[in-house]
Amino acid sequence: MNIVEQTPKTFALTTPLYYVNDVPHVGSAYTTMAADTLARFYRLLGRQVLLITGTDEHGQKIQRSAANLGKEPQEFCDQISASFASLWELLNIKYDRFIRTTSPRHEMIVQEFFQKVWSSGDIYQGQQKGWYCVSCEEFKEERDLLEGNRCPIHTNKEVEWRDEQNYFFRLSKYQTQLEEFYRSHPDFIQPESRRNEVLNFVSQGLQDFSISRVNVDWGFPVPADPNHTLYVWFDALLGYVTALLDTEDTPTLENALAKWWPMNLHLIGKDILRFHAVYWPAMLMSANLPLPEKVFGHGFLTKDGQKMGKSLGNTIDPIVLVQQYGSDAVRYYFLKEIEFGKDGDFNEIRFINVLNADLANDLGNLLNRTLNMVKKYCAENALSVSNAAIPAENPLKNMGANLGEKVKQAYESLAFNQACEAVLSLVQASNKYIDDQAPWTLYKQGQQQEVETVLYTVLESVRLAAYLLSPVIPNISSEIYQQLGWEINFNEQTPNFATHAQWGLLSNQQTLGKPQPIFKRIELPKND
Ligand code: MSP
Repeated sequence: MNIVEQTPKTFALTTPLYYVNDVPHVGSAYTTMAADTLARFYRLLGRQVLLITGTDEHGQKIQRSAANLGKEPQEFCDQISASFASLWELLNIKYDRFIRTTSPRHEMIVQEFFQKVWSSGDIYQGQQKGWYCVSCEEFKEERDLLEGNRCPIHTNKEVEWRDEQNYFFRLSKYQTQLEEFYRSHPDFIQPESRRNEVLNFVSQGLQDFSISRVNVDWGFPVPADPNHTLYVWFDALLGYVTALLDTEDTPTLENALAKWWPMNLHLIGKDILRFHAVYWPAMLMSANLPLPEKVFGHGFLTKDGQKMGKSLGNTIDPIVLVQQYGSDAVRYYFLKEIEFGKDGDFNEIRFINVLNADLANDLGNLLNRTLNMVKKYCAENALSVSNAAIPAENPLKNMGANLGEKVKQAYESLAFNQACEAVLSLVQASNKYIDDQAPWTLYKQGQQQEVETVLYTVLESVRLAAYLLSPVIPNISSEIYQQLGWEINFNEQTPNFATHAQWGLLSNQQTLGKPQPIFKRIELPKND
């Protein structure tokens, strides 16, 4: 049995490798924003992180998309793959590896892996008959089809009948081993509802699946029989392995698996759960390789309550969204408003209202008005009190004391919305506190020490909030830190969690910066 090992100092995670049949939509951006947030969080903890993303470029779906535009597949893939990389720049995604499955190094890895599976006796030739959804690149059970032979996921696409000689992978052989693995690794598939889905699917009995095609040219030739091309999923999943190679490494499995394997986390959408939680582990078992630690299947995004997807044609252009509102705003909305693991909706009015309420108002205004009060009420624009002078029962100090740990647990369990909510409750309590304490009145009454206590506790709470939200909104957090006198840019530095996640770090030595709005209020679109 393969044992999942974990190297505590490293953390390797992946996004799916996106199909290049079309430019990216918000659904593809969603997983990547979540992955980047998590990667940033683990870097704050001091872990060495490897964030892998990339594009999945073979198969019939892509071959057809290129042909429809009269383009050569490789030229088409080059263009679309580049549009993913440029969207990641716009969204401020700090990935470490971008793997393209058409790269020659990937082919070497796929061949070596195929050979291992072949040697295990797990590949054989057979007749494949069934309904195929080209958009899913997956055979469908007849009982799962919608009326008119349509795919349940790509509801406007008809499945196609196939009856051909294919090579098969002996998935059925791994039934017991997989079940045993799920039992002994209860956290392997998350959230719980997805785990149950997989257990249920596997308990119905696993069937071997075909891993080659005879009617598709756009793929790697099957090493044992070049008249066939490899099934796109067999090749794509191995992209995660190829991505582990350093540029100077010779492309062998041994080199690829030397440092980061087994991976800590595959982040995926719920539609590709079976591939990651059933097929992939079985393929790895067949090749005698250890399995990844965790697969997390998130929910689907809808737009104004409607299903959204590349093949359905009602997508939101993430480029337009980022150009209009900025990367932090887009990241914040999707991670704070949607429970990761559940389906969630995008609605522009709601989007604007959330950003205005949380970022412009609760967080931005609070910082701005507090810094302005320091300027007005404190000598030389500096506080004279520090953490030591604030009593432990101060409500903000009290709340801030456990916040770091609480937020850490939320990030670690991928509960991004809970992490944001917990931070926001400190921000909201700070707004209430400053209003209740009314430092402007205290100042008039000559209670200087009290004035400074209020201003210190609020500014320190804003600092802590900025630190804990920095994986989600790195630009805004950097801006806040800079206004509080730190020369820290969260896109380049990873200030240590043990120090910065503690309430009380702000000191009276800090030279406060110039108050400037950190997030401009967005005007709601006018009704025609
Ligand atoms: N190429 C495969 C993945 C191979 S991984 C080795 C693939 N690509 S995809 O581009 O079609 O989808 C990539 C991811 O986008 C999937 O995780 C999918 O769940 C996600 N999404 C596609 N539409 C989505 C929404 N409407 N909402 C949220 N995520 C969605 O599958």
